[in-house]
Amino acid sequence: MKLWGGRFKEKESKLMEDFNSSLRFDKKLYKYDIQGSIAHVKMLAKCNILTDEEKDEIIKGLISILKDIDEGKLLIEGEYEDIHSFVEMNLISRIGEIGKKLHTARSRNDQVALDFRLYAKDRAKEIIEEIVNLKEAIVELGDENNVLMPGYTHLQRAQVVTFKYHIMAYYNMLVRDEKRMLNAIEVMDESPLGCCALAGTTYNTDRDFTAKELGFKKPVDNFLDGVSDRDFAIEILSACSIIMMHLSRLSEEIIIWSSKEFDFIEISDEFSTGSSIMPQKKNPDAAELIRGKTGGVYGNLMALLTTMKGIPLAYNKDMQEDKEGFFSGTNNVISCLKIMSGMLSSLKVNEEVTKNAVKKGFLNATEGADYLVTKGIPFRDAHRIIGEIVLYCEEYCTTIESLNLKELKKFSDAFDEDIYEFIDYESTLKRGIKKEIIK
Ligand code: ARG
Repeated sequence: MKLWGGRFKEKESKLMEDFNSSLRFDKKLYKYDIQGSIAHVKMLAKCNILTDEEKDEIIKGLISILKDIDEGKLLIEGEYEDIHSFVEMNLISRIGEIGKKLHTARSRNDQVALDFRLYAKDRAKEIIEEIVNLKEAIVELGDENNVLMPGYTHLQRAQVVTFKYHIMAYYNMLVRDEKRMLNAIEVMDESPLGCCALAGTTYNTDRDFTAKELGFKKPVDNFLDGVSDRDFAIEILSACSIIMMHLSRLSEEIIIWSSKEFDFIEISDEFSTGSSIMPQKKNPDAAELIRGKTGGVYGNLMALLTTMKGIPLAYNKDMQEDKEGFFSGTNNVISCLKIMSGMLSSLKVNEEVTKNAVKKGFLNATEGADYLVTKGIPFRDAHRIIGEIVLYCEEYCTTIESLNLKELKKFSDAFDEDIYEFIDYESTLKRGIKKEIIK
């Protein structure tokens, strides 16, 4: 069933009909399609293109379709070309001839551009909500676990930090993610409705009215751009990709920390799974799936960028391929944010293990060198002296702070009793950049 056909002599091949139809996936847009049509019809009546009675009749019909879909009484299926055809043809079959007036001064090109923007805006807002929830879960987890742990570079123990300080790095990433998503909403906040196919309409329509009615800041400035712009979807998918990169890095840490080799954390039973053969196993599947889904979201972004890159203005059917990847990418980001919040809220940190790990790995070596600098030794020499001490400690399986003053003085005369306080792990943490987080 189609909205066109007047200029055709022969029937479309069934193969082509299936190939061309987007109903299977764009049915997700039904709510936005109806919302857009209601705003459009109100505008048509305001501009005296439709009578008030016609407007009321059409709106009543559209609302009844919306209600029936919501309640599962009307299934979005059948041989329709897309969701726009589905709604319009159902309207005509419900209210008759008047329904045929709905599409006055509109094209499916501005209609789909509108529906997709409305959908994208809502998904972006949902993602922001989930970012806020995850930020809260991180703050809570950090506050409950303000405990010493090694900080790493090259995955080698480097200097002392706290679990809280480490996890709060992700909080800061999410702050930027949230800003990026808010900015994407701000940039896309213009209505394409009224651009029609590409060059507007001869009717005297009111685009400001529909823009306001649909909650946009203003109508788009250029009609060709309005119907063929998919930057908003690319921008959201790009922000989603960065979110996933952050979640994937955190997942990787969770996976490593939960291994017996590290044993820094325990993932709750709620967010772990078992093995069908090895009874002892508790696997970090939630984190692994987040890490795994990251590739898919990057793929969604690449697919849309590639689809758009060679398309001349204005609308081309290639653009129908903009939706599935966007639906899947944004859905995945929302579920990964939810899963990460749940996993972090129920995570246990093994304080004794993280604290003990600090003692192995010479995490106070840099501070030892800093100490010698305070005694007048140039940093490069101080670095060498401490290096020699580390080598010595490794040989005798001991730590810098366990050496007595006599032993230390063999490496440098500058060592004094105050070295022990200076390289104490808690006190190294209290100095320098970490002062404010030790509260
Ligand atoms: N299903 C189409 C899409 O998603 C709707 C727009 C169709 N426009 C057209 N000129 N055939 O892009």
